[in-house]
Amino acid sequence: MKFQAPKGVSEYVPPRSRAFEWTRDTLVSAIKHSGYQLVELPIFEDTELFTRGVGASTDVVSKEMYTFEDRGGRSITLRPEGTVGALRAVIEHGLDRGVLPAKVFYVGQFFRAERPQAGRYRQFYSVGIEAVGIDDPALDAEVIAIAYAGFRALGLTKFHLDITSLGDASSRAAHRVDLMKYIGTLDLDEATLARAQLNPLRLFDDKREEVRSLMAGAPILMDYLSEYSRDHFAAVRSHLDDLNIPYVINPRMVRGLDYYTGTTFEFVHDLLGAQSGIGGGGSYSGLMEEIGGQSLPGIGFGLGIDRALLAAEAENVVPVDEFASDLYLIPLGVAAKSVALGISESLRGSEVTCEIAFGDRSLKGAMKGADKSRARFVIVLGDSELESGTFELKHMASGATSSVTLTTLVQTLQQALSVK
Ligand code: HAM
Repeated sequence: MKFQAPKGVSEYVPPRSRAFEWTRDTLVSAIKHSGYQLVELPIFEDTELFTRGVGASTDVVSKEMYTFEDRGGRSITLRPEGTVGALRAVIEHGLDRGVLPAKVFYVGQFFRAERPQAGRYRQFYSVGIEAVGIDDPALDAEVIAIAYAGFRALGLTKFHLDITSLGDASSRAAHRVDLMKYIGTLDLDEATLARAQLNPLRLFDDKREEVRSLMAGAPILMDYLSEYSRDHFAAVRSHLDDLNIPYVINPRMVRGLDYYTGTTFEFVHDLLGAQSGIGGGGSYSGLMEEIGGQSLPGIGFGLGIDRALLAAEAENVVPVDEFASDLYLIPLGVAAKSVALGISESLRGSEVTCEIAFGDRSLKGAMKGADKSRARFVIVLGDSELESGTFELKHMASGATSSVTLTTLVQTLQQALSVK
């Protein structure tokens, strides 16, 4: 029986897993530098958290959740996104009762039962942040700036930022009246009309070209913004201008999750084809209450690590970072293995990567292993070396050797590696 990974999951093995790590850590680094702290959250939650929080009109909830009953008869869902779980934790642990905004980040797997294709997986990796408790256009701009900085730190240049404002409750209520009137004049099937009832904005984003073209003449939310929302959005834009972050205002942007209000944004990569959204987010003013918390605003983003890596590969900016051991020990015999284990142990706390040639390979076979590991230095531990207590430290690139003892090895090696 030959097993394969489940259909549509992304997984990373060497050597590409190094590029994945680099992508993830680079994006996380931009986040940490703005004072966001890690929340390590469960991968499954109560199903109701997502139905309430993400919204029933979304594809994510209505079609794409991995939901099952656990052994206690509870309905459980593998997290399709990170925001509502993060807010659940913020509420449960009272982080919203400390200094505001509460600023958290998370990174890991998310699950959506979508039709797999390049850049769209059923299990994918995302890193996200949430800032809860303060409504300030400067915070919106900083959240966008952090994502932008992360993508730029990867070396990406061929992407653009779309932003819009979904306004406050009064803006949306006014728009909804006119939008529903407009939708009422269209020749649409029952299911689409039902979707429109739940969230009429969804129709702007309908998968069918004919529905999207019917919506071309629909009233746009941006024209209905209240004075407050208009001023707020103008302030966000002016902060972005000051930061020299280029953006395009896209009034027809519809995010795939229902909780958004106010500033919303998406980063779109120009070389990725259909699945080009490398990150997106926005603010959500009613979500905390919706899932049982205080009435507090929030804003955040989710960045797709898989897609950011694909983008970096498409732009050819992934650094060459092949795996290389610093030291490769080749013990000849049982006593030598014991010494090799001791050396490896003593190096474990240092930055030096040390490997041992395990198994009873010939010297020639073991040297092949050293080559495969791209070892920088090699020590052969034979009987005479054990007896004399001195070893030849061989620099593989130049062939140069130097004599070391167990006591001088670590220092010599560290010195040699620091000049590389
Ligand atoms: P999202 O746009 O649904 O937002 O997902 C965030 C990012 O995850 C997307 O921009 C995309 O790069 C990546 N992504 C989504 N689905 C897939 C998939 N099937 N395969 C590969 N990558 C995917 C959210 O999830 C929100 N929680 C973001 C947020 C945080 N908004 C406010 N706070």
